[in-house]
Amino acid sequence: MRVLVTGARGMLGRQVAREYQKRGVTVYPLARQELDITNCEQVFSILDKIGPNIVVNCAAYTDVDGAEQEKEKAFLMNGLGPRYLALACRRCGAALVQISTDYIFDGKAEGPYRIYDTPCPINIYGASKLFGEASVREIGGRFYIARTSWLFGPNGKNFVDTILSLARERDELKVVNDQHGTPTYTVDLAGALADLADSKAYGTYHVTNSGSASWYELAKTVVYAAGLNASIAPCKTREFPRPAARPGNSVLDPFPLKQVIGYNLPGWEDAARRYLKEKTVMEV
Ligand SMILES: NC(=O)c1ccc[n+]([C@@H]2O[C@H](COP(=O)([O-])OP(=O)(O)OC[C@H]3O[C@@H](n4cnc5c(N)ncnc54)[C@H](OP(=O)(O)O)[C@@H]3O)[C@@H](O)[C@H]2O)c1
Repeated sequence: MRVLVTGARGMLGRQVAREYQKRGVTVYPLARQELDITNCEQVFSILDKIGPNIVVNCAAYTDVDGAEQEKEKAFLMNGLGPRYLALACRRCGAALVQISTDYIFDGKAEGPYRIYDTPCPINIYGASKLFGEASVREIGGRFYIARTSWLFGPNGKNFVDTILSLARERDELKVVNDQHGTPTYTVDLAGALADLADSKAYGTYHVTNSGSASWYELAKTVVYAAGLNASIAPCKTREFPRPAARPGNSVLDPFPLKQVIGYNLPGWEDAARRYLKEKTVMEV
């Protein structure tokens, strides 16, 4: 089996490539310099040459605030890129795993969002990722759309690392307590994506760790688990205005992931603790 990973130098891309290497699969981890997903000709010629069985698209424009200014760039990378990949995958018979996001929802729901709830993004990043989903569905073929949320893991800019470094520098931190989602460990996500891609049950899925938290709860958990003394105080989103609006609730209901891959992902607290352990080992 041949698996091509796009955006392979990003946080998730590296982990997906690692997961497939662990499984003994031939992996083509291509960074932007090797495969620019917005270059239609290049997408077709590289996919034709490699002839992958599975393409995992981890390439994206991920700067949520930056997208408010760089709308066209966000739509090009998050929308048109996936369309080119879907077309090229259809031509060479590959299955496409397109990574999407909780930010396609407006956050107004009372409980977790289901795969069949109606998306309504409230920022440009979410709108561009929703365009990516639509582009892949429009082209058809064999595809999985895997929506995930609040990623943390090695080799990437993420909230857990940011909070830990702030907690080492300061005695007190204020963290927003009115946005709820599910923190997700890229290691767990990469394993589940590979299992999903094996299932042949094409379609849309929510793939996150289990449970839910606010950013404040996540910060408290990791600072405590890391044995740091900084005190964490809850605050409101409006105290820290950002260019892009964020959904208040973007928790994703995993149904029917368990029916397809046989399990739901572990709880986010357990995942966060495993990540801290891995970081400690790597830093020693
Ligand atoms: N991070 C989260 O919390 C989160 C939450 C929900 C969903 N997601 C989704 O998960 C996926 C992976 O996110 P991530 O956190 O791993 O992002 P990331 O670390 O920012 O990685 C994205 C990668 O895509 C590459 N890239 C950008 N434009 C490209 C292009 N035109 N062609 C090829 N590669 C390109 C980037 O390369 P450069 O570094 O050279 O720009 C970067 O290596 C994305 O689809 C994202 O929308 C992420």
